[in-house]
This record gives sequence, C-alpha cells and structure tokens, in this order.
Amino acid sequence: MNIQNVKCKIFRYDGRGRPRWETFEIPVARGMTVLDGLAHLKEHKDSTLAWRSSCRMGICGSCGMLINGRPKLACQTQILEIKAPLVLEPLPNFSVIRDLVPDLIEMFEKHRRVKPWIIRRDSYELEKPANEYLQSAEEMEKYFQFSYCIKCGLCMSACPTLATDARYLGPQPLAQAFRYIADSRDEGFAERSRPVLSEGGPWRCHFAGECSQVCPKHVDPALAVQLMKREILLRTFRLKKSQPGAPIAPKIIEARPRPDIPPAPERTVR
Ligand code: SF4
Ligand code: FES
Repeated sequence: MNIQNVKCKIFRYDGRGRPRWETFEIPVARGMTVLDGLAHLKEHKDSTLAWRSSCRMGICGSCGMLINGRPKLACQTQILEIKAPLVLEPLPNFSVIRDLVPDLIEMFEKHRRVKPWIIRRDSYELEKPANEYLQSAEEMEKYFQFSYCIKCGLCMSACPTLATDARYLGPQPLAQAFRYIADSRDEGFAERSRPVLSEGGPWRCHFAGECSQVCPKHVDPALAVQLMKREILLRTFRLKKSQPGAPIAPKIIEARPRPDIPPAPERTVR
C-alpha cells in the first residue's frame, strides 16, 4: 500500500489558558479521512487530542471542523484531496470546549426557540393519533430538502452575519423554522412568529449564501431564509390566508382482492 506522510497542524486548547498550535505527521493511505487521521494521532501520538464524532458516515453531524479554512465534516473529507499541510481548527462562531470540540449549545437553544415540530390545533390527534395526515407529493416537496438537516452547525460557522451579531438566529434554526412553516400539516405560524419575527429573524440575513455553499447535506438554508421573508410579508399584508392544516386520512377500508390482478403464486418454501 502506498503511504504518504502528511503534515497536520492542529489547534489545541485545554479549556483553560491560551490556545496553541501543534504539528504532527500522519501516515496516510488512499481513502483515509480526516477523522481516520485524528484517530491515528490519538492512538499513536497524543491520547489527549479531543474532537467529537460518532457515526463516521455523514449522518450524526458531530464531526464538523474547519479543515484548511473551510467548514467540513471530518468523516467525509479525504486527507489526500486536501492541499498539504492539513490545518484543523474548531468551527468558528462557536465557543471552544476543547481542541476541535465546539460548543453547539447556543445553536440548539436557538433551534428549540423556533419550535421545530408539527404544531396543530387538534392537539388531541397529536397525542392520540387515529390516522396519518394527508399530504400530496407536491406539498411534501415544499419542505423536503430542508428536512435533511443533520444539525452539524457548518452553516452557522460560515455565516458572516452571525460572526458579527450573536442575536441573529442563524441559518440552521431559520431553515428549520421554514421547514415547519412550509409543511402543509403544520398550523404553528403564529406560535413561531415570536422568535422568527424578533430582531434575530430573517431580516438580518445579508444573503452572503455561504451557509448553502458549505452544507454537507445539500440543504439550502439561504433559500429558506429568503422564502421565510416572503412568507412573513404575504401573511403580514394579508395576501395569503392561513390554511387549516392537512386533514386526517380516512380509515383504510378493508382490502378486497381485485379480479383484474392475478393472485400471488404458492410459496415454494414454508
Ligand atoms: S443546514 Fe446543512 S450545514 Fe446547516 S446544520 Fe443543517 S446540515 Fe448542517
Ligand atoms: S461522525 Fe457523524 S457526521 Fe461525521
């Protein structure tokens, strides 16, 4: 196997004192990710090295870091595709707990403020569901891409508005607010409007678009923020009536065999 030694400069901070930089060398084979490289360093060079990760496949959203100046997921970034030396820093726009571990709590609190769940007036149905809500494919398309968010925080770390204004909710919570506002099953616009229309709402966005550039799941938070502005204007000037949420699907009538479909063949294995 062809092994290449790659220089890696890592931001170190132990939660007290001053941060510092430390340089290591990683023996890299084709296919090794930044996360694999960090695991190698922890095992062979410095067991105190700290980062956050779990799934190793771009799903949990926990391994976000600044890789040569760009917010990326460590488990989705091949070391040999990055121009050496490899430079690793914690995500900007968050405080640092230790080394490459950002404190994401502020993002999660802002996310919670926009009530990221289906809000209905018929709350009885939410608690004791009788059946699913009816939704067409076209209605689902309005919010579907935004529901791919894995809460990694890369968009928040790339946002220049958030870098200068901590009051701004930021692309992740706003995209998720829009995800629910655009859902035909939801009736919670009024409940969500307090955080959404606050001074930290979408009007602070300067539309730099960096959030959508860095999103590893191809969510487009910049688009969600612009669509949210449109939605607020339409509702404020009463150009759009608020619709009742999607109805509950009727109970499925017992399936009857159709004479035009032949019956399934006999099972060969019992
Ligand atoms: S919108 Fe994209 S970049 Fe932002 S938190 Fe969600 S998955 Fe991560
Ligand atoms: S470890 Fe889960 S997204 Fe990278």
